[in-house]
This record gives sequence, C-alpha cells and structure tokens, in this order.
Amino acid sequence: MTVARSADTDMPVLAVDDLRVSFKTPHGLVHAVNGVSYVIRPGDAVGILGESGSGKSVSAGAVMGLLDSPPAEVTGAIRYRDVNLSNEVSGIRGDRIAMVFQDAITALNPGLTVGYQIGEIFRVHRPGTSWQEATEKAIGLMDQVKIPSARQRVKSYPHEFSGGMSQRIMIAMAIALSPDVLIADEPTTALDVTVQAQIMQLLAELRRDTGMALILITHDIGVVAEATDRVMVMYGGRIVERGSTVDIVAHPAHPYTEGLMNSVPRAEMKHERLHTIKGAPPVMTTIPSGCAFHPRCARRKPVCEGERPELRNVMPGRESACHFAAEVVDG
Ligand SMILES: Nc1ncnc2c1ncn2[C@@H]1O[C@H](COP(=O)(O)OP(=O)(O)O)[C@@H](O)[C@H]1O
Ligand code: SF4
Ligand SMILES: [Mg+2]
Repeated sequence: MTVARSADTDMPVLAVDDLRVSFKTPHGLVHAVNGVSYVIRPGDAVGILGESGSGKSVSAGAVMGLLDSPPAEVTGAIRYRDVNLSNEVSGIRGDRIAMVFQDAITALNPGLTVGYQIGEIFRVHRPGTSWQEATEKAIGLMDQVKIPSARQRVKSYPHEFSGGMSQRIMIAMAIALSPDVLIADEPTTALDVTVQAQIMQLLAELRRDTGMALILITHDIGVVAEATDRVMVMYGGRIVERGSTVDIVAHPAHPYTEGLMNSVPRAEMKHERLHTIKGAPPVMTTIPSGCAFHPRCARRKPVCEGERPELRNVMPGRESACHFAAEVVDG
C-alpha cells in the first residue's frame, strides 16, 4: 500500500473529529460515544481512561472500522494523515493503524500455528511474500516481542503458549506491518500482575524502538500513569478531561477524575478503606441531562442538571468538561 508520508513530522497520524456511535437495540438506542475528538501525533503515548461502559472500546472499534452497521451507526470523521477513513478502501486500518485486544487467547485461531497466523499477515497485506519469507518475518517478530526460542516455537499452536506469551503473539501480529499507531485495549487486564508489568514494559520498548504512537485503553490509573504522557478521561461516551498524565494524576480538574484518583489505594493509605465513586455509571440508553456525572457528583450545583459543560481549556494544556473545574483544581 502506498500512502504519501508528509514531510511534516508533526502532522497527526490519527485525527478523530466528533465521533458518535449509537446501537439500535430492543431496549432503545444505546448512545455509546457522543462526540469524541482527538489528535494523535507520531510517537505519542496517550491513555484513554474510564470505568467499564464509558465508550472506550466502542470508540476504538469505530476508529478501526470494526463495528457492524447495523446495529452500529457511526458518524464523524476519522483521518489517518490526510486520508479520510470514514469511507476507506485503502487498507490503512490493520496496516498503518493496528489494535491489540484484551483476550489474546480467544483472538488466536486454535487450529493454526502461531507462525502461520503471523506470516499470513504478510501474505495478505504484502502480496508476493513467499511462505518462507513470511515465516522468517514471523520468527523475527517473535524475537522482537521476546518469545524465547522463536525459531523452535514458530510451529507451535496457541494452546502451547501461556496467556502472557499469547498476548506477545497478538502484539507481534499488531506490529507486523510497522504501524504508525497501535491501539491497545486493556492489553493486560486478563493477565496476572507480574505478566502485566512485562507486557507494559514490552509495549514501552516497542514504542521507543519503532516510534509508533500508542493509544492505551484502560480502567487502571496505575497503567496510565506508568505508560502514557497524555490522558483522556471518558465518561458517558464523552471525554470529560484531558491533559498531561502527571498533571492530571496530581491535580485532577474534573470531579470524575478526582473520584477515580481517590479510588486508587496508595501505599501510605493502605489501612484506609478504598474509596470508590458512589453510584453506577450511566445507562447509555438514558444518559442523565446536563452533566452526565451529576447524579454521582458531590460538587454538583443546580446548573449541572440543566446545562451540559463543554470540554474547554481550564489552564494551560488542560481541558475539563466541568462547570466548576477551577474549584476542583483548588481542592
Ligand atoms: N454491539 C453493541 N450493542 C449494543 N450496545 C453496545 C454494543 N457494544 C457496546 N455497547 C454499549 O456501549 C457502551 C460502551 O461500551 P464500551 O465501549 O465497550 O465500554 P468500555 O469503556 O468498557 O470499553 C456500553 O453501554 C455497552 O453496553
Ligand atoms: S459539571 Fe457539576 S455535576 Fe458535572 S462534574 Fe462538574 S460539578 Fe459535578
Ligand atoms: Mg472496553
């Protein structure tokens, strides 16, 4: 595939503008993503943080063109460099923009060797690649994601690998074509803590070595804090706060983010009860009026129920969608 590369290295590799996704269901229209816009530049490490059901995976699925329509209805613009992907035929998805999912073991085909599954990517996306070349590339990638004895294991089947090793194979498949953007959706959630750390380390190394941008989707603040430079916090299918990760972790400017931070056990607080945000995330068929967070917000005032706060700059490099962001920052 040939896509003109811009000499402007600061040109976004991915630009999402007013993305909206709804699903027609027997229970009504599910408003999963409600106007999400963002820009990813080469080499960025950006987190998408939020509780379960906030629209993280659906927004990523829309970017990757993975949602079946119907039931999904997707609107908005998605661009890779200067190519509009909304009606794409260019094969950019899966090639220049790749994705890793939570459940590696079920994503692999149990009946095919891992070498075949990795090699097939080259056979499909780089026509003319021989099986021998594809197998050599598969071995190279297995080495790159640090699977021991790659040459011996290239003919093994998925069940012969642990969960962590399977996730490494999924990462190998995702980076096979040297994408500019890797979207990792809860890549370590199914793994135990030690293996989680190893996979996060691998993703950080790959990003450093290849220069690809990483979008890391997670509900885990620890993972975001460790692996990203910027973070976008999602609630009710919208971005409610974004900015630099260190700044947001230290001084949230949205009560929802504040609640997420307070729910993290800190070493010095280990004898205190873990504080969780009261109430449940919104039901996406009937998202609350005004600020979607108002039923759970300890800082709400009457205006919050009637007027939806837009995402706006509240200090340099920081946007928050809260009417009282300044008060939140002041503590
Ligand atoms: N295929 C679907 N049909 C109907 N609703 C869906 C579908 N996929 C996701 N949803 C709903 O969209 C909302 C956002 O889901 P999702 O993006 O998966 O959340 P998360 O932030 O946990 O990744 C949820 O309310 C979910 O139930
Ligand atoms: S706008 Fe109001 S309800 Fe929403 S987060 Fe801010 S204070 Fe809370
Ligand atoms: Mg998800």
